[in-house]
Amino acid sequence: MRRIAVLTSGGDAPGMNAGIRAVARCAVAQGVEVVGIWHGFQGLCDGDLVPLDARAVSNILQRGGTVLDTRRCEEFRDASGRARALEFLEREGIEELVVIGGEGSFRGAVALAEQGPIKAVGVPGTIDNDVYGTDYTIGFDTAVNTAVEAIDRIRDTAEALDRPFFVEVMGRTAGFIALEVGIASGAEDILISETQTDLEQIYQHLEANLRKGKKSSIIVVAEGDETGGAFRIAAEVGARVGLEYRVVILGHIQRGGPPTARDRVLASKLGVSAVEYLLEGREGHMVGEVAGKITFTPLADTYSHGKNLDNYLLRMVRILAT
Ligand code: F6P
Repeated sequence: MRRIAVLTSGGDAPGMNAGIRAVARCAVAQGVEVVGIWHGFQGLCDGDLVPLDARAVSNILQRGGTVLDTRRCEEFRDASGRARALEFLEREGIEELVVIGGEGSFRGAVALAEQGPIKAVGVPGTIDNDVYGTDYTIGFDTAVNTAVEAIDRIRDTAEALDRPFFVEVMGRTAGFIALEVGIASGAEDILISETQTDLEQIYQHLEANLRKGKKSSIIVVAEGDETGGAFRIAAEVGARVGLEYRVVILGHIQRGGPPTARDRVLASKLGVSAVEYLLEGREGHMVGEVAGKITFTPLADTYSHGKNLDNYLLRMVRILAT
């Protein structure tokens, strides 16, 4: 019987479980056997699998994290690690693999498929949204909403004590989270690595806010900003303004919690499309969604092409923060 395997890899993202569920249920509905691989690519090297069926994935749709666990696997970077994985897959009669993860995971999938007989399809799952070939990655919407909810709370105390807050959000080297969080939370400034950060300008902006009678200022800082993060910016800018300021690093809070409905729907669509794609005998692409349509991007393009921020959103930042 045909056997498909599914794994989650890299940083976990809310909605990965909805993706696993969609893959398993679609495979079962098509009469195909499906197994889950524990701990991402590490599980392929170690030969660690769990049979899945429709009931095995019950009641996971609404849960954050990933029920299959995930790892960042060093061993898999070596041809010898991948050879172990290929031996395991052959032993188990698995010729098709669904990889749910980010661009690092897709590099792994391409390297594996180049080395041996495995057909891979990618499903974009990372809170960072930094994957070319899809408007949104699974987990991004939840991470943004979590950060916005946190900043709404910070705004209350910032207003009460007339304090500027420097809030750092995740995103690795990319500013997608910071940009959407900043706009949705009414941030006075958004600092991201894709645009040059000018500390003098931020200081002037903070000063101007005070003159305009703003009681609080929220500066959203992407963790990848080239200036070195929220603490450094706060020390240089906040101190100059002469007000007591605070720094909040939202960190891994953004990675956990139940996925939003939007992430659940996206993960369900992409999981089903990934299985249908493999059943058509195709391989080597990432399933994504662009302008509401399912798309297929060569896996290598997902990490060799940069993904641009929405210029329209970028332009809005200063207009809205007046
Ligand atoms: O890629 C997802 C992500 O959460 C990034 O936003 C962040 O930089 C990184 O993972 C954190 O990694 P770790 O969980 O290993 O600390």
